[in-house]
Amino acid sequence: LASQVFDNHGRPINYVRLAVTDRCNLRCFYCMPEHGINFLPRKELLSYEEMIRILKILASLGVNKVRITGGEPFAKRDLIKFLAQVCETDGIDKIRITTNGVLTAPYIADLKALGITNINLSLDTLNRDRFKSMTRRDEFHKVWETFELMLQQDFSVKMNCVVIEDKNTQDIIPMAKLTGQYPVDIRFIEEMPFNGNGNTRAKLNWDYAKIRDVLQAQYPNLHPVESGPHSTSMNYEIPGHLGTIGIIAAYSRTFCGSCNRIRITSQGALNTCLYGGSVMNIKDQLRSGASDEMVRDTFLKVFRQRAKDGFEAEQARADGSPATESMSTIGG
Ligand code: GTP
Ligand code: 5AD
Ligand code: SF4
Repeated sequence: LASQVFDNHGRPINYVRLAVTDRCNLRCFYCMPEHGINFLPRKELLSYEEMIRILKILASLGVNKVRITGGEPFAKRDLIKFLAQVCETDGIDKIRITTNGVLTAPYIADLKALGITNINLSLDTLNRDRFKSMTRRDEFHKVWETFELMLQQDFSVKMNCVVIEDKNTQDIIPMAKLTGQYPVDIRFIEEMPFNGNGNTRAKLNWDYAKIRDVLQAQYPNLHPVESGPHSTSMNYEIPGHLGTIGIIAAYSRTFCGSCNRIRITSQGALNTCLYGGSVMNIKDQLRSGASDEMVRDTFLKVFRQRAKDGFEAEQARADGSPATESMSTIGG
């Protein structure tokens, strides 16, 4: 069995978020601009073969959880075939997916057959018009269909809702209410400045405390429950409800001290912090003919120089160049 690698701040690294594509079928305004996106040509993206090689090397360093992100994972060809290979990778025993749910329904049976049990579904509103305004696509019904199908098939579902002033704050209570009817974990997320526009340095109006206050006003018996050691969310329960409620302080970053994750973008960039930018490109190293040993050593070296919280670098960048990065390239 692989021994666990720790970073220079004593944090285990056991979770990789792998963006399998930079493409998406939606255009969520907080993630990417509507037009003029430069999707990369195929040869500049990691191949599935390269991704599996990376996962094997990471598994040998103690990574046991992989989250498949994008863009939208199901916008990528042959995803199920790739997932089957991931499932066969020794050491990787938690395989998770974050999807927008629009193209997902036809694959639910395949996922189930592969033994994949947990899916995070992005859905910011229960209202068709607001969905259209936030994602710039009229696809609400497909996401809802996917949601119901996943529950029917006994998947563990977390629903991710990015809370944004003047867009969907009226959805907070109706979405929280879903936990009364469905065994779903609804997670409200602070907006982060990664919309690909470079102009979202405005103050965050809806931070985790404000979201919590709104929930508490409606549900005075809302009470905290334990969350896992590396959880991004503060979790709550409403007595009698089937599901739980979480709040992710993605901008306030209350959880950096226990951060166990790294990110690999579809171009092969390695990010050791969501806010820190790329620290190296692993694809370039693979294609230069490096052995597994060499790649492994590179990971080790990078893990020992990990920023405690990459936010400061992000702020420094804000003074000069704007944050033009899109969440769809970083993978969330
Ligand atoms: P679980 O593995 O189910 O706990 O999910 P997760 O929160 O790790 O992943 P998911 O893809 O569902 O992400 C939910 C939200 O949390 C997204 O908005 C992510 O961008 C955000 N998030 C995930 N990891 C980090 C992180 O390391 N730092 C910050 N700031 N936000 C994160
Ligand atoms: N701020 C916060 N969360 C975001 N996501 C995408 N862009 C942003 C942003 N700017 C979320 C998506 C998805 C997850 C991977 O990241 O809603 O659920
Ligand atoms: Fe696509 Fe997710 Fe970005 Fe929305 S947030 S455009 S679903 S990658």
